[in-house]
Formats: sequence, structure tokens, C-alpha cells
Amino acid sequence: MPPLPSVAVWLAMIKHNLFGLTVQMYLDADLYDRGQPLDSVIHFLTVTLKELNWNDGRKNVVMDVGCGPGNTTIEWILPLFSNLDKLIALDSLPSMIERATAKNCHPKVEYHIADFNDRSAVERWKGKITKLISVNCFHWFKDQEKSFQLVYDLLQTGGEAACYFLLGSYLYDAMIQIKSDPKWKDYFEEVDMCIPESHFNKYDSSHYRKMVENIGFEVVLCQSEIKINRLPSHEKAKDRFYSVCPLVPLVPENQREIFKEELYQCILEKSATKDDEMPLHKASTLEIVIKKT
Ligand SMILES: C[S@@+](CC[C@H](N)C(=O)[O-])C[C@H]1O[C@@H](n2cnc3c(N)ncnc32)[C@H](O)[C@@H]1O
Repeated sequence: MPPLPSVAVWLAMIKHNLFGLTVQMYLDADLYDRGQPLDSVIHFLTVTLKELNWNDGRKNVVMDVGCGPGNTTIEWILPLFSNLDKLIALDSLPSMIERATAKNCHPKVEYHIADFNDRSAVERWKGKITKLISVNCFHWFKDQEKSFQLVYDLLQTGGEAACYFLLGSYLYDAMIQIKSDPKWKDYFEEVDMCIPESHFNKYDSSHYRKMVENIGFEVVLCQSEIKINRLPSHEKAKDRFYSVCPLVPLVPENQREIFKEELYQCILEKSATKDDEMPLHKASTLEIVIKKT
């Protein structure tokens, strides 16, 4: 019988209620907050969206879905809009919204705890949003079609959404391998690793293009590719990977450092990076920009 996680870990887990099933999502806000957005995320926000004329000078009501601690919201999303009415930033984790309100407040930004899997939590903004952005969040959603339908309902006619998220990752491969390792597997009987369906089914852009067109969106941009980003140090790389790995807190504290090091070595192996090289973040990624016509 694996040991129970500590109180702090339970607090960091949120229970989503999907189709009557309870699914736990793990994310360590403190570790996550130590990192910076990947270069490819910054490129998407500052180059791709600029080229697509997202700074159109109109009075925009913007929504950021899965805003985390609000760093990306304030540093990279807010400056995109020169004539902003307001920016509504949502996250399902109270720990993220607490950090965002403490560190990243701005007179035009409202932070809300809201679970995007729960339509009733966002119903009040139906038809009011002109631009919706979501960075590195859609891969947490179990039913992505339902989430894109909700995006459609939240947007005004003529409104646009831009999402950047993972389809597959070396971290997921490493988690799958270490979860069945005889040395560790007894700790992980019940855990949901929150690995998206796209990782197993190797979805590419054509899967998502069809999905959003069926909902009624016009596709402005839809591209999947492997993005390779440099991470500044092994320490920063570890913070990033451990912050989203739900296996880590399930290992008893007296063995956790050994487990973390084995997991990290496994990630380096999968991404073919040597110990003495700068660490890389390699992941298959989708960039999608869609319009409600
Ligand atoms: C990897 S972080 C990205 C944060 C931020 N967008 C950034 O780029 O730094 C993903 C965020 O999505 C949030 N999230 C995951 N599932 C969610 C849901 N169902 N509703 C709202 N937020 C969710 C997580 O709590 C987390 O803060």
C-alpha cells in the first residue's frame, strides 16, 4: 500500500468532476513559478500573433485560460493589446490564482478560480470574449472537443482564439517507463498521470483542424511540430519537469530525491541529451488560431 501524500500535496491536487469520474490534477505552483516561458511560446505570442494582426487596436475583452501564476499573462499577453477593455485570466488551481493576484496584479486584469472543464464556471462570459488565449493548458483537458466547443460559445462572432499546447513529450515517455519500473511501481497504483490522448494516438494538426471545423470555426493557423527549446540549466529543467509530474509526491520523502534523479536521467535519455550538455525541452506541440465567423 503506497503511503498517503502529505497535506501540502493534497492541497496542490484539484479534483475535477468529469462525466461523474473524479480526476486529480497535480501541479506544484511553487516549482512551476520558478521558470520562464519557453522561447517557442514567446515566439508564438510576440511574432505569430502579431503577424496575424492580433493587436488590431479594437477594444478587446481577452480571456487567458489556464493562466498559472500570471507571469505569461502580464509579461507577454497583456502587451499584445493596445486598446484593452479587460483581461479575464482563469485557472482551476487556487494556488496559482493566489500567486497571480499577489505578484501579477494589474488594473485591467481580473483573476478568477475557474475550472474550464466545468461550463457553469465560465457561463457568465458567454458571447462576451473577443480574443481567447491559452498557453500550455489544453493538454490537461480530457475532452478537448468539449473545451473547443466552450471556446466557441464564449467568443463573440468575429472573435478569435489562439492556443498553444503539447501533443506529446519525452517527459510523458519517461513517466510511463518509470511508473512500471519494479523498484517504484508499488507507489503508483491509482495515479492518473494526466497524459493527453494525443501522446498515445500521435495526433497531428489534421486531427485538430477537423475537430474545430466541425464545431464551426474558421481555421486561421493550425500547425503541429516538434519544438526544441533550450533550458537555462539542469536545475531549471528539473523544476519544470518535477512541477508537472504527479508521481514525485507519491514517493516517500526518504526516497524522493533518488526517484527524482532517476526520472531526470530517464528524461535525458529519451531526449538524447547528455549530462554535460545544456538541457533541452523537446515536445510535439500544436499552435492553433481559429475564428468564430
Ligand atoms: C503549465 S501551466 C501554464 C500556465 C501559463 N499559461 C503559462 O504559460 O505560464 C498550465 C495551467 O493550466 C491550469 N489548468 C489545468 N487544467 C485546467 C482547467 N481545467 N481549468 C483551468 N485551468 C486549468 C493549471 O492549473 C496550470 O496553472
